Amino acid sequence: MVGEDGNKVTAQNLMFDEQTGIAKKYSREPFIKTVKTGVRSDGSILKLPMEPKMVLSDREVGAIYDYLKTVPKIHNDIAQKTTALHLVNK
Ligand code: HEM
Repeated sequence: MVGEDGNKVTAQNLMFDEQTGIAKKYSREPFIKTVKTGVRSDGSILKLPMEPKMVLSDREVGAIYDYLKTVPKIHNDIAQKTTALHLVNK
């Protein structure tokens, strides 16, 4: 998908892989805040189609976080893959 700035928008690896996932990025509370508000702790805004999910309660987003922690980590460098795919498609 192409964002408003013309650059490719890619979803993130939400697994707890140390290198390519969100493990180092998010502890539980910041994860809940970011998903609900659409703003990361560093102030950067999540791009569409990742909309703020204010309809979800802290408990619900917390449950998603807890679940993600139970999923086996997958090493998946999305940025690298989409760049490769982009080059193939050209
Ligand atoms: C409850 C469901 C969802 C949760 C818990 C969730 C969680 C997250 C989190 C935590 C991030 C930030 C990762 C980071 O800091 O790099 C993110 C980014 C993103 N999500 Fe979601 N997401 C959800 C649903 C969706 C849906 C439905 C879409 C698409 C239709 C989506 C598309 C994206 C995209 C494109 C990004 C990257 C935004 C950017 O780089 O600025 N997400 N998501």
